[in-house]
Amino acid sequence: MHLPNYIDARRRENKSYRRVDFQFDNRVKDKYKGKTFFLKTYGCQMNEHDSENIVALLCNLGFSQIEDYEDADLVLLNTCSIRENAHNKAFGFLGRLKHLKNKRKDLLVGLCGCMAQEASVVDEILKNYKWVDFVFGTHNLYQLPNIIDRAIEENKQQIEVFSQEGDLVEGLPVVRSNGYKAYVNIIYGCNKFCTYCIVPYTRGRERSRKKEDILKEIDQLIQEGYKEVTLLGQNVNAYGKDLYDNYSLANLLEDIAKKDIPRIRFMTSHPWDFTDSMIEVIGKYENIMPSVHLPVQSGSSRILKLMGRRYSREEYMKLFYKIKKTVPNVAISTDIIVGFPGEKEEDFLQTLSLVEECKYDNAFTFIFSKREGTPACKLKDDVSLEEKEMRLQRLNKVVNKYFLENNKKLEGTVVPVLVEGPSEKKNNMFFGYTDTNKLINFVSNKQLNAGDIVNVKVLSAKTWSLDGETVE
Ligand code: 5AD
Ligand code: SF4
Repeated sequence: MHLPNYIDARRRENKSYRRVDFQFDNRVKDKYKGKTFFLKTYGCQMNEHDSENIVALLCNLGFSQIEDYEDADLVLLNTCSIRENAHNKAFGFLGRLKHLKNKRKDLLVGLCGCMAQEASVVDEILKNYKWVDFVFGTHNLYQLPNIIDRAIEENKQQIEVFSQEGDLVEGLPVVRSNGYKAYVNIIYGCNKFCTYCIVPYTRGRERSRKKEDILKEIDQLIQEGYKEVTLLGQNVNAYGKDLYDNYSLANLLEDIAKKDIPRIRFMTSHPWDFTDSMIEVIGKYENIMPSVHLPVQSGSSRILKLMGRRYSREEYMKLFYKIKKTVPNVAISTDIIVGFPGEKEEDFLQTLSLVEECKYDNAFTFIFSKREGTPACKLKDDVSLEEKEMRLQRLNKVVNKYFLENNKKLEGTVVPVLVEGPSEKKNNMFFGYTDTNKLINFVSNKQLNAGDIVNVKVLSAKTWSLDGETVE
């Protein structure tokens, strides 16, 4: 048994880590043929991509995936810790699984992902969820086949969570959920330690993948016909710092842009490490999509300081305008937290005024959620939940206004769209995403396939989507 703890998880030792190639243990290959699994994924793209590896590992064990958890032999929850909400949802689902397990003793239940890295969650499972068969963390996902095999063979709860990152494992099998758009990890972990955020504890320190491994994966995706790659990391802007003296995200983006891949995206960028050379590269290459996710979190420099964000409102705005100026037609999106401990009405008004100034194309807005073990958890939280909810509503009203205003500006223009598929409702209707990542529903008399990139004229704009028709 390995249990997680935050003291080890917090350590950022400068030790080097090994890059190892994944080997599937042939003794368990196809051992569970005929059995089925249901996988539920919570959280961010990183978790979604981990789930693509999990599906492949389970298939190698012989399991096949099904859509109804009540019929499955194995139910696995890939969890998220970022806010209490995600946490409660996972425990809620575990509650339902308990009933199912009472009826079907042979049902296997497992939990993995970020919540597995939380000592308090594992404690709770040890105490009150003894019937959960196995738990493994984000650092040892590659051990899944043997952990599940042991849970079945020994018929004993397996808790295998490493507090610290171990080897960087390359070559995990993957079953991608989309045939045209692929996620590619470029860096794991986060060293920023924003005071509200649990990620540096659950995902470990920053570890970049070698550029050769990333470029090889992208070459393979191109060969398989992929049209879009999204480079993933908790903070992609830190790419390469732990590995190279002279190779950064700007260099990596440029090396990928020179390849025959029509669309490149990346997320998430911390404003702190956004370099001028990155901005230049994004502006220079047509296949790097003009879409930047730049979380601001707050418009008040005082709150930004308490959040440990390492930039002031003024520094953020300087970067914002530099990106706007250098990257033609760029769409900038953001994340914002309201109700951080000590946030006063005047701080919140500064967030509103920043949003009025930035007029974001998209924004994800959240109420501050206390995460145990983070510094902000200890701060005095004197804003009532009612007040926080009001602030969220007031903020959403302003962000929505600008989503619509930005979308309206596209009316009458022609935008490139990656086709996702035909609409289920109407003939000749399709949907896809523009270069700036906006959902568009459109009419076409052509025979279009998912993965095609077509020009679409925007006919009308709504807050959350566009309508249009294809043009020659
Ligand atoms: N409470 C509320 N929102 C949070 N986020 C991260 N941690 C918290 C928290 N404790 C938000 C941030 C981040 C996004 C992924 O989730 O806005 O950018
Ligand atoms: Fe959390 Fe993002 Fe900050 Fe990392 S960079 S600590 S993930 S908010």
